[in-house]
Order: sequence, then structure tokens, then C-alpha cells
Amino acid sequence: MKIGIFGAGHIGGTLARLFAGAGHEVAVSNSRGPQTLASLVAEIGERVQAMTARDAAMFGDVVVVSVPFWRYREIPADELAGKIVIDTNNYYPQRDGHFPDLDAGRTTSSELLQAHLPHALVVKAFNAISWHSLRDRGRPAGDPGRIGIPISGEDEKAELIVAELIDHIGFDAVKAGSLAEGGRKYQPGTPVYTTDLTAPELRAGLAA
Ligand SMILES: NC(=O)c1ccc[n+]([C@@H]2O[C@H](COP(=O)([O-])OP(=O)(O)OC[C@H]3O[C@@H](n4cnc5c(N)ncnc54)[C@H](OP(=O)(O)O)[C@@H]3O)[C@@H](O)[C@H]2O)c1
Repeated sequence: MKIGIFGAGHIGGTLARLFAGAGHEVAVSNSRGPQTLASLVAEIGERVQAMTARDAAMFGDVVVVSVPFWRYREIPADELAGKIVIDTNNYYPQRDGHFPDLDAGRTTSSELLQAHLPHALVVKAFNAISWHSLRDRGRPAGDPGRIGIPISGEDEKAELIVAELIDHIGFDAVKAGSLAEGGRKYQPGTPVYTTDLTAPELRAGLAA
């Protein structure tokens, strides 16, 4: 599959490495331009290239958004119409500034991204795992220690494709519900956040 990535930091860079390692074609981008990504691309090696954000959006069948949350409005919307968009972003007011609707719990960060990308199929994933667990703790299917990754979305087919991608890189996807309801269950500050639970433990934690 062709995967475009906005963000080449802790999560975006790690996903680029994992997806390329699993045999996918990856285009990675950041805010400063592809020339600043030469060392990451050289380090990952095959199946990854650096592009402008706009080109990465056009390249991917699936596109990952992994930027500091407050920058979500910079993500180009037209190029993502009809595409699956994986939202790894979390809202941290101390980094992102205050969004009153988020502070009051009237909406969630993924719903704001979905509103910004009205014609994309947003699936929230990779939000509740630290980048170093993502980098180091992938395991083959069936391994009893395999970590569960909660996902949320509005489109079943999009969620299925994201769940398959998660499986390819060594984790079990666990459906948590809609963006509005599911997404709230594993935001920063929730009990399941970055606790590296297995899928059965995560299901229990999300239901609690
Ligand atoms: N770190 C974690 O363990 C973790 C875990 C789960 C979820 N998250 C969430 O995932 C998101 C990314 O976190 P991170 O730790 O990977 O951040 P990070 O290391 O700070 O990297 C952010 C990346 O986003 C890029 N970027 C910024 N604006 C962009 C734009 N308009 N278009 C394309 N790329 C852009 C930056 O590029 P430049 O440097 O060129 O600006 C940088 O490569 C955040 O929302 C975070 O809260 C993080």
C-alpha cells in the first residue's frame, strides 16, 4: 500500500520505518521541506522517500497525520478527499495552546480534524502508545505480549484497513467506537493511555 505521512518526528518517523519495513511504499513529509529529511530517508533505506506535504498527500492511499495538534489546520484538505486519514494527534494545551471546545469537552481533537477534512475518512490510531513502545514492542500475531492499539472512526471499511496496517507492524487493533465517543476513552489522562496493555486488557480498560 502507498502511505503518505505528515510529520517525521517521534511518531511519524517511527511509522515510516515500520511501514517501510513491512513492505509498504512510504512518502514522509514535514513542515520544512523534503531536503531536511535526507538523513531519515537514508537511515530507513528502501521503500521510503521524502516529499512536500502536498505531494505526500497525493501519494498516499492512506495518509497519516502526526503533527503537533495545533497545526492540524495546515493539513491540505482537497488532496485528501476520499482517502483514509490516520490521526495520531493528541491535544496538549501546554504545547498546543487552549482550544475552548476541547477544554470544555464539547468535542475531541479527532472530530476537529475530521471537520477540517470533511471528505476524508478519519480513523484515530496510534494516540495511546508512546513512540518508543511503537518502535520497540511490535510482536508477531498471536504473541501473548502483543500490545493493543485502540482505534476509532465512522467508516467500518476504513477501520478495517487501518487494523490490517496495525497488524502488519506488530500490534492488535482494538475498536473503541466513534470518533466522538471512542476517542475520548484513550486521550491523555485516561487510565489506558500509554500503558502498553494487551488487546484483552485494553478492551477491559476501555469498557471500564
Ligand atoms: N511522542 C509520542 O510518544 C506520541 C504518542 C502518541 C501520540 N503522539 C501525538 O502525535 C503527534 C506527533 O507527535 P510527535 O511526538 O511525533 O511530534 P514531533 O516529534 O514533534 O514531530 C512533529 C512533526 O510534525 C511535523 N509537522 C509540523 N507541521 C507540519 C505540517 N503542517 N505538515 C507536515 N508536517 C508537519 C514536524 O516537522 P518540522 O520539524 O519540519 O516542523 C515534525 O516532523 C502529536 O500530536 C502528539 O501529541 C505523540
